[in-house]
Amino acid sequence: MTDSLAQTHSDLWNELGRGVVDRRHGFHVPTLSTIGLDGAPCARSVVLRRIDAERGEIQCHTDVRSGKAAEIARDARVAWHFYDESRKLQLRVSATAEVLVHGAVADDAWARSAVTSRRCYLAPRAPGAVCDAPSPNLPEGVRDRRPTEEETLPGRANFAVVLTRATAIDWLFLASEGHQRARFTRDEAGEWQGCWLEP
Ligand SMILES: Cc1cc2nc3c(=O)[nH]c(=O)nc-3n(C[C@H](O)[C@H](O)[C@H](O)COP(=O)(O)O)c2cc1C
Repeated sequence: MTDSLAQTHSDLWNELGRGVVDRRHGFHVPTLSTIGLDGAPCARSVVLRRIDAERGEIQCHTDVRSGKAAEIARDARVAWHFYDESRKLQLRVSATAEVLVHGAVADDAWARSAVTSRRCYLAPRAPGAVCDAPSPNLPEGVRDRRPTEEETLPGRANFAVVLTRATAIDWLFLASEGHQRARFTRDEAGEWQGCWLEP
């Protein structure tokens, strides 16, 4: 526990960084919420792929044909929810998002993706398309094995980075001796301003 807002802010970004690399960290699979095409909230689990504390960026990957990609194109406002049980730490992040299909960020993310991750992007039909029976939506030949790198290449056309830029973070730490809560907001100049909140 600390009573320094600056330390708390720095620590939370460090924790997000751990969530990228540690599959067992509670932050590794956060919830990303978008505004549905009908205006209703729409939430789903995604894998946390990259963060940049300096820029306030949080990234995941998705299929460009997915519902969330269309939702973000219509309304860029998103919310992230993170909870790590062992650290008793919840983060709620407000952000704006863009879906990057082309360019250096997406190319680099694709290059760093494992073939097992890339396999999802070989799906012949759009995620969420109605089908007659339960279907893995994968080409016949790669359903039960790792594809080769070459076999994954057609998946690049469906692959996108969801790049989000945080605008506000609600930090909540649970402790038996008393919970702590803080809010950080990013001003026009990109500087974070923090304040403590009643939990
Ligand atoms: C543990 C877990 C991890 C997931 N990771 C991702 C991911 O990184 N990217 C993604 O697009 N979908 C991921 N999904 C699937 C989404 O939760 C969701 O079902 C899918 O993306 C379709 O969502 P949409 O129709 O709202 O776009 C994951 C699901 C689970 C259960």
